[in-house]
Amino acid sequence: MKDIAVIGTGYVGLVVAVGLADLGNRVTGVDIDDVKIAMLNEGELPFYEPGLKDYLEANIESGRLDFTRDIAAAVVKSSVVFLAVGTPPRRDGSANLEYLESSIDAVAEHAPSRTLVVIKSTVPVGTSRALGERIRSRRSAAGIEVVSNPEFLREGRAVQDFFHPDRVVIGAESEWAREILAGIYSALRLNEVPFVCCDMETAELIKYATNAFLATKITFINQMASLADKVGADIALIAKSMGMDGRIGEKFLHPGPGFGGSCLPKDIRALASTGDSFDVHMSLVKSVIAANEELKTRVVMRLKELLGTRIRGLSIAVLGLAFKSNTDDVRESPALRVVADLLEEGAFVRAHDPQAMDNFRAVFPDISYCASGHEAMKGADALVILTEWNEYRSLDFNLMSKVMKGRILLDMRNVLNSRLAREHGFVYRGNGRVIKELIQSR
Ligand code: UGA
Repeated sequence: MKDIAVIGTGYVGLVVAVGLADLGNRVTGVDIDDVKIAMLNEGELPFYEPGLKDYLEANIESGRLDFTRDIAAAVVKSSVVFLAVGTPPRRDGSANLEYLESSIDAVAEHAPSRTLVVIKSTVPVGTSRALGERIRSRRSAAGIEVVSNPEFLREGRAVQDFFHPDRVVIGAESEWAREILAGIYSALRLNEVPFVCCDMETAELIKYATNAFLATKITFINQMASLADKVGADIALIAKSMGMDGRIGEKFLHPGPGFGGSCLPKDIRALASTGDSFDVHMSLVKSVIAANEELKTRVVMRLKELLGTRIRGLSIAVLGLAFKSNTDDVRESPALRVVADLLEEGAFVRAHDPQAMDNFRAVFPDISYCASGHEAMKGADALVILTEWNEYRSLDFNLMSKVMKGRILLDMRNVLNSRLAREHGFVYRGNGRVIKELIQSR
């Protein structure tokens, strides 16, 4: 059992704090947001994440987990400090390290002399080493050591990902640091999780390479879906067959309206910016950024084609506002682009999402928010599905044909049964699933 402080209780920080407490450590989570701290100490989550609340409550109850605003008090009693504060993008795409640096300064001031500082935040290559030097410049005698330990949690599956990671990456300079961190994760090692031990720069780049590769894979299948649409091929079978090739793998080949979220877009831009600063032109990464932006704008273009160009004055039902299912997060969600484009075109938007409407309302307060998917489609001229929530898979076509004014369905996540939709008289378009007759009749 270790005394651990986790600085930053965003997605990564909170899941790590809860997970480490559950592995038997005494953990204090730290944040500058008073409201959040009060909520967390009451066992309330500040965001939606399946399964996390039960772990939060159980570990608070066991006495192994609490939260405070007082970074000094948390750090002074801890032998290990995890830093999981945000690294938001600056205007040029590079990561803003302000929060990380102020946290490191607090650690340098208050940490006991032999403390391990674990960088969980996603940081540009070289940052962990620079932070170690920053500590030494303030406390030269102290044996405070910095390690890089990037996180691979997915929103919506964060609990599962914490306890069953594909790998644990430890970028450390000394055997002492490696052993402490490996010890903390030892409960996972018993589950035969592979550990990758390396230097800090390699660990930092593993994180960016992974997210950039995932973004590339998604963008590739999205562009293939656009092509499949034109030539009348089936993207589901293309993706499935590609995935059967062990060199490619079947995951992350589901077409959608473009990738979003708080990580992939930010990290891929930061990687491009890092390349620039080292004079390495990351042309592939830059193309993926541009292609993803373009894909998001294609949604309303397709809707216009289906409606016969005019959208002004029409009512459009938008189902799914979160950047993916099982989260209430709308950061960089394709729905933001789609709704902005629809409003720009003069449409009325009737929106629904099972979890993300409050967050979306903060950006678009004036569109209509509806209590259900069926409610959103009342009187709508067209319907577009942007997020793959399970509940949209079983929309009632009979009801839809009664309440919708128009017959156009644009299913960017391929969640509906296209045959049933057509049988009910809808003009159905999936993403990369155009049927042969439609192509031939063009
Ligand atoms: C991503 C990575 O998957 C995590 O491993 C990583 O830890 C995290 O970023 C991070 O850096 O913190 P996350 O942002 O939660 O996780 O979301 P993903 O599940 O990766 O999805 C990203 C976007 O790609 C979403 O918009 C999703 O809808 C889209 N996507 C994903 C597709 O369109 N198709 C797919 O097949 C997969």
